[in-house]
Amino acid sequence: MKNYRIITFGCQMNEHDAEKMRGMLEQMGYSETGDMEEADLLLINTCCVRETAENKVYGLLGRLRKLKEKKPGLIIGVGGCMTQVEETARHIKRRYPYVNLVFGTGGLHRLPELIAGAAGSRETVLDHCRPEGVFEGIPAKRESGLKAWVPVIYGCDNFCTYCIVPRVRGRERSRRPGDIIREIKELAEKGYKEVTLLGQNVNSYGRDLGENYGFADLLRDADRIEGIERIRFMTSHPRDFTDRLISAIKDTAKVCEHFHIPVQSGSNRILKAMNRGYSREYYLDLIEKIRKEIPGAAITSDIMVGFPGETWEDFLDTMDLVERVRYDAAFTFVYNRRRGTPAERMPGQVPEEEKTRRIEALIKRQNEISLEKNVEEAGKVHQVLIEGVSRTNRDLAGGRTRTNKMVFLPGRGEDAGKTVYVKIVGGSLTHLEGEELNGVKCPCV
Ligand code: SAH
Ligand code: SF4
Ligand code: F3S
Repeated sequence: MKNYRIITFGCQMNEHDAEKMRGMLEQMGYSETGDMEEADLLLINTCCVRETAENKVYGLLGRLRKLKEKKPGLIIGVGGCMTQVEETARHIKRRYPYVNLVFGTGGLHRLPELIAGAAGSRETVLDHCRPEGVFEGIPAKRESGLKAWVPVIYGCDNFCTYCIVPRVRGRERSRRPGDIIREIKELAEKGYKEVTLLGQNVNSYGRDLGENYGFADLLRDADRIEGIERIRFMTSHPRDFTDRLISAIKDTAKVCEHFHIPVQSGSNRILKAMNRGYSREYYLDLIEKIRKEIPGAAITSDIMVGFPGETWEDFLDTMDLVERVRYDAAFTFVYNRRRGTPAERMPGQVPEEEKTRRIEALIKRQNEISLEKNVEEAGKVHQVLIEGVSRTNRDLAGGRTRTNKMVFLPGRGEDAGKTVYVKIVGGSLTHLEGEELNGVKCPCV
């Protein structure tokens, strides 16, 4: 029996790719181990969205030299977004010759044959092909038995000027509606309660299929699947969050009231330079419309500081937008130059210490707002899907509200998969605390 271990960096799309890798490896007869020393096959699933993500991979590769010396039969494979960039793939092959296989996102579906090839080769096998097409039927071995990622669209056509994702994930390709619905039905039959529809920009789902069937239609169809209780999706591009989509969300009982709608910047000048395709006024109107149509909706965002040419005034526009929107939470990033992107060569690159000053101010204010919003939850009642026992306190159960906030409550730790009503009694920056309302039954269970 051979063992494998996969180490994944990056976003949910990479997490899901790792689930597919697991599925393929188990079909090949491998079994998973948590211990790197026990592995016969080690796969590193990489991310290149920022340099920090890449540095983690290089650090890990350096450390693996010793392991390989101890266990020469170990097969090391490096795949994912970073190695989809051909120069990087070649660099890894040259610099870390003990790596057996280098492949990108475009080669994922051929993983079994690539591993077989690498096992029989004395040289590093370098596979490079463009991420194209949609491959159905790859078995996914998922981490949880309750919540599942379901990709609906691969790639991205938006070409935000800072972003390397379109280069490493290719052009937009939608899965066929029938394949997605079939997968969700199968998940429901296996007892899954929640699905998150995934894509770099889920709102442009279906455009490439030319069948006049879009993301709103997909949500309506997914909503009818028996057994699934919650539907989430990410990521949404503000420009494509249409009225049609808002009415579909209103009409569907299972689509949860949490929307991740990255704004990136609050300055019109910077949004234009980023090629985001909307203005701050449009964005603020969109948030207002969503809050009016879908009361209680939680909104989260990605926000970047230090884009080339960003002045202090531009940054203050971002701070002002954060103040107006009052996000439930936000991922904050310092702009990082990515090779081959238009922003790499833009004038006015912001010095690192200035970027640090801006991100610190942004994080401080956003954390205050997140905390205030969580404290304001006290007294409200939420429907919570129990996920299991809290890792830090065995007496507490942990679960999420439909608005995607983590809640801890006494008891019920053994009831993973049950939906309960919970009265919130307190909130901190990262989670809420609650008590179950006895005797109240959820209408959906
Ligand atoms: N498709 C998604 C996610 C893209 S990557 C979306 O468009 O929202 C996740 C986040 O990383 C982006 O939203 C952006 O805020 C950040 N990001 C992308 N490229 C970056 C770069 N070069 N430097 C810093 N942050 C970046
Ligand atoms: Fe990158 Fe923009 Fe596409 Fe998101 S929408 S993946 S930020 S190019
Ligand atoms: Fe990273 Fe690739 Fe996701 S670059 S953010 S893992 S799409």
